[in-house]
Amino acid sequence: MLISVIGAGYVGLVTGACLAHLGNEVRVVDIDRARIERLRGGEVPIHEPGLDELVAAGLANGRLSFHADQSGTYGSQLVIVAVGTLDRAGEWYGELVERAVRGLAEDSRAPRHLVVRSTLMPGTAVRLEALAQAIDPDVRLCFNPEFTREAVAVRDFLEPDRVVVGAGRDAQALVQELHELYAPMGRTILDTDLTSAETIKLASNVFLATKISFANELARLCAATGADVHAVVDGMGLDLRIGRSFLSPGPGFGGSCFPSQVRALPELARSFGIEAPIIAAVDQSNLGQADWLIDGLERARGASLAGSRVALLGLTFKANTDDLRESPALRLAERLVARGARVVAYDPKATEAGVVQLAAGGVTVDAAPSAAEAVIDADAVVVGTEWAEFGALDWAALAPRMRGRIIADARRIIDRDAALAAGLTVVAMGVTHTPDGGGAAARIAVPVTAAAAV
Ligand code: UGA
Repeated sequence: MLISVIGAGYVGLVTGACLAHLGNEVRVVDIDRARIERLRGGEVPIHEPGLDELVAAGLANGRLSFHADQSGTYGSQLVIVAVGTLDRAGEWYGELVERAVRGLAEDSRAPRHLVVRSTLMPGTAVRLEALAQAIDPDVRLCFNPEFTREAVAVRDFLEPDRVVVGAGRDAQALVQELHELYAPMGRTILDTDLTSAETIKLASNVFLATKISFANELARLCAATGADVHAVVDGMGLDLRIGRSFLSPGPGFGGSCFPSQVRALPELARSFGIEAPIIAAVDQSNLGQADWLIDGLERARGASLAGSRVALLGLTFKANTDDLRESPALRLAERLVARGARVVAYDPKATEAGVVQLAAGGVTVDAAPSAAEAVIDADAVVVGTEWAEFGALDWAALAPRMRGRIIADARRIIDRDAALAAGLTVVAMGVTHTPDGGGAAARIAVPVTAAAAV
C-alpha cells in the first residue's frame, strides 16, 4: 500500500519505518527541512534501538522516502498524522494535530483518508472529524493509537498486543484499509468508535502508571513492615488477573507520556464535573517517591546530605533512551540539590563532560564522563536509571575511590553482593543492606493498635 505519514518525530518515524519494513511504500513528511535532509542521508535524529537499521533498509530498497512539504502525500491511499501533542511545559495540547488535519482537508490533492495516531484527549477526534468534513465532506477519519514504548518501540510496533481502530462517520473503507495494513502482524484488531479508541489509549497508560505507583507505595509499606517488596510484587504478579508487568517499584515513572496523562485525565473528568480521586492521586504519589528514597538514604547514612557530594548514576527516564523528559532521575537530582548536596551525574546517553543544566527547576549538576569518575570522592552514590552497565560496575575497584560507603539503588540494578563485599552499604527500596549481613535495618515495630488487633 502507498501511504504517507505526517511528522518525522518519534511516533511518525517508528510508524513509517516499520510500515515500510512490512512491505508498504511510505512517504514521511515533516516541515523541518533540516531534519528531512538528515533523514534522507540515513541519519536518524532519535535514539531508538533498531530504527537506524529499518530507516537504512527502507532508503536502500526505495520503500521509505522523506519529504519537506505536504505534496509528499499526494497519491497515497491514506495519510497517518503523527505530530507532537506536548507543549513546552510537557502538557497535552492539540494545536499541531488540528493544524495538520486542517491542512490536509484543505488540500484536495492530499489523501481523503486521514488516520490520526498522535495521542488525543477523548472527544478531540470527533471535533477534528467535524472540522475536516466542514472543509471537505469527502474526508474520512480514523483514530489509531500507538502503544509503543521508547527503547522497544520497533518491537512493540511490529508485535503489538493489540491494534485499536476508532472509526469515524462512514469510514468503513478506511477501516478496511487499516485492517489490511495491520494484517501481516496477525494480532487482534479491536474496532470501535473514535472517542472509545482515544480513551483506550489514555486509560491504558494511566492504568499502567497507577500500577507503578501502587508498587511504589507498597515498597514504602514493605520497608516499614519488613516484607520484601520484590517478593510481594512477584507473588501478586503470578495472579493472572494482576500480571507482573509495570509492578516494579523504583524512583517513580517519567517520560513524555505517563506524567502528562495522569494529570490530564482527572482534569478531563473535572471538566465534566466528575471527580476521579484514584487517578488524581497518582501524580502526587509519583512525585513523592524521590523524597521517600532520599529520606531512606539519609536515615541509613545517619546524617543529612547537606554539604555532601553525591554521584548520580543515570539521568534518562529509563534505560536505552536519551530522553530526559520528566525523568525521575532528574527529580532525584533536584531533591538532592534542594537538600544541599552537590551532584555529579553520569549517564551513558545524556551526559557529556561538563555541566548539565537540568530542565525542571533550573538545577545544575556536574557531569562526569563515566560512572567510575562520577563516584570519585562521593559521599553517596544514587542509581536513578537501570542502564545495564551499572549492573556490571566493579565495586571492589570503585569503593576505595569513594569517600562515603553508601549506595542508594532506586532501580535494583547494581550487583549488591559485590557492593557489600566491597564494604559498602546498599539501600534498596527503603531497606538497608549492610556488609555485616543486615538486611532489614529499616524495619519498624508494628504499631500498637495494629498489634492489638491481631
Ligand atoms: C508508555 C507506554 O508504556 C506505551 O505503551 C505508550 O505507547 C507510550 O507511553 C506513549 O503513550 O507513547 P514510555 O513512556 O516509552 O511508554 O515508557 P514505559 O516503558 O512505559 O515507562 C514509563 C516509566 O515507568 C519509566 O520511567 C519507567 O522506568 C517506569 N516504570 C515502568 C517503572 O517505574 N516500573 C515499571 O514496572 C515499569
